[in-house]
Amino acid sequence: MLFEIQNLSLENFFNFIDTRINPLLVFKGATISLAILSLIYLGKLWYSYRFFKKRGIKNPDYEFFYGNFRELSKDKNYSEKLKKWTDIYGKTYGYFEGHLPILVTSDLDIIQEVFIKQSSNFSARKKGPLRRKDDDPNLDLFQSTKNRWKRMRMIMNPTFSSAKLRELGPILVNCTDRLIDVLNQDGQMSEINIAQYFKRFTMDSIWNCAFGVDINMQYEKENDYFNKCEEVFRLSANMILPQYLGIYLYEFRGILMPCITLIMRILSKIGNHKTLLPLFWLRMKIGELVKKRLNDEKLKKKDFIQLLLDAKSEFDNDNFNYSDLKKFLTPKEVETNLVLFMLAGYETTSTALSYSSHVLATYSEEQSRLYEEICQAFEADLSLINSDSVQKLQYLDWFVKEVLRYYPIGNSVVARRCTKKTTVKGIDFTEDMTIAVDALSIHFDDELWGPVDPKVFYPQRHEVKRNPLAFMAFGNGPRNCIGMKFALIELKIALIKLIINFEILPSVNGEKEIEFEEGVVRYPKNGVKVLLKKRNN
Ligand code: HEM
Ligand SMILES: *[C@@H]1O[C@H](CO)[C@@H](O)[C@H](O)[C@H]1NC(C)=O
Ligand SMILES: *[C@@H]1O[C@H](CO)[C@@H](O)[C@H](O)[C@H]1NC(C)=O
Ligand SMILES: *[C@@H]1O[C@H](CO)[C@@H](O)[C@H](O)[C@H]1NC(C)=O
Ligand SMILES: *[C@@H]1O[C@H](CO)[C@@H](O)[C@H](O)[C@H]1NC(C)=O
Repeated sequence: MLFEIQNLSLENFFNFIDTRINPLLVFKGATISLAILSLIYLGKLWYSYRFFKKRGIKNPDYEFFYGNFRELSKDKNYSEKLKKWTDIYGKTYGYFEGHLPILVTSDLDIIQEVFIKQSSNFSARKKGPLRRKDDDPNLDLFQSTKNRWKRMRMIMNPTFSSAKLRELGPILVNCTDRLIDVLNQDGQMSEINIAQYFKRFTMDSIWNCAFGVDINMQYEKENDYFNKCEEVFRLSANMILPQYLGIYLYEFRGILMPCITLIMRILSKIGNHKTLLPLFWLRMKIGELVKKRLNDEKLKKKDFIQLLLDAKSEFDNDNFNYSDLKKFLTPKEVETNLVLFMLAGYETTSTALSYSSHVLATYSEEQSRLYEEICQAFEADLSLINSDSVQKLQYLDWFVKEVLRYYPIGNSVVARRCTKKTTVKGIDFTEDMTIAVDALSIHFDDELWGPVDPKVFYPQRHEVKRNPLAFMAFGNGPRNCIGMKFALIELKIALIKLIINFEILPSVNGEKEIEFEEGVVRYPKNGVKVLLKKRNN
């Protein structure tokens, strides 16, 4: 019988339906089934909103179906909102994205368990709305879970060691020199939005350090590479509709996401290179670079492509229960992780530089103090600036940490998803339950950061040893920011060269207080406007 049906032609098939099934009956049946299914779905929604009540955890008011997501995405102040809720509901509470429960905490005991002690039970990140399935073999380090994450992280950790970063130092110094050069041309005693320059600088640094490609993107205002990469960010911020669908129709993601991916794929195939969707363009470019490197031994360079291709790890097989136990990254994995470095290292680092400039322009005494320290170390010989020497400047280190405490940047990604049912401090975690950290409440906690008021910008507070969990700018535990050391070195080299060359002054039209906007990154909405005055040394 089955065999018969398969052999029917399309025409026969419709005839077959026609003669045997009454269309009216089909319509009625479909309507009734649909109504029943909708009721079941609504019942399920209603039940999911009882999640926190069942556990005796407080949660703010929500809209049926939307949860708290509409207000969160509309107001673009995720971090402030979490803090406001913490002020009302206490250190641990819940909210809903669509009907998905998210637990929020600023309780360091809970964070200690989730991020460190039981990190193997929380081996996934919060599900992004457009996220692929957990077991997708093409996931990058950021998105992968469980043993796949562990294996990749063990292979990649050594590529960010001090010794490896030392080799990248000269490239970073080179990129910084270009930044200073461009600022010299454009920024002489006229107001500039310095955030724009930092964006080009960090992107230039990534293309040079990660991909070994020198593109003239700091000098060239209309640079194809820069524009495409910028578009990746603008587009992903504007992919609102698919994101909402992913959140609100959570149960149907299995069908929805492949459709969206397919549509994007088709769109990118019919377009020519100019109209290619930016993310596909970026993947293609990086794929080409990796392939070229694989095929030609002579092209060996000191950059992340090479580091990742060469990376091998001697881990113990017994620790893993994973079919694919390669102790190195496949070329495809190298490619996806390089794209990740671009996404994770570009806006975060440039935003940190923007905040730093705002502070320098606002607090002249901080700037003087840094200028003094920098002159003492490097005035005699600027060529001493390298990835090791910049880490020895004590006050600069405090300053950068204070900037990142005062203006934490990546709060929305500091979260974990439970991958193995467990209990933490009396809270039952089911699989897939997400816990997010309220970083602002932690960074402005009197007990953790006193006695000087945390609302005061005061670098010296880092002289006292604090609870490591009180600093959440790079997350914490084995799954913290893998690029932290690299970012700190890049920040410090840039700040040193900036301060030794220019006096950074507040612009007349600049804002006294920064106005924030937050997507994945929390950034100054209107950039940072300053005046630069060349120092005569
Ligand atoms: C100031 C600059 C930066 C900030 C503030 C920042 C912040 C963060 C934060 C908060 C996380 C999540 C940590 C957690 O969940 O515990 C993270 C993860 C990550 N960051 Fe960064 N980051 C910066 C620069 C960079 C750079 C330059 C790179 C790459 C070269 C990078 C690559 C990554 C990667 C790959 C992850 C995921 C790690 C994993 O899941 O194992 N970041 N970052
Ligand atoms: C978030 O932004 C909205 C609109 O911009 C504003 O009304 C609200 O007060 C902000 N919330 C917090 C906690 O800052
Ligand atoms: C993970 O959770 C289980 C309970 O499901 C618990 O027995 C185990 O100790 C936890 N792992 C760690 C490392 O704490
Ligand atoms: C620095 O850049 C110049 C050109 O701008 C180049 O000739 C030189 O090789 C670069 N040095 C390093 C270490 O990349
Ligand atoms: C390892 O994985 C297999 C299948 O994926 C599973 O059946 C088995 O229970 C796992 N073993 C352990 C020790 O987790």
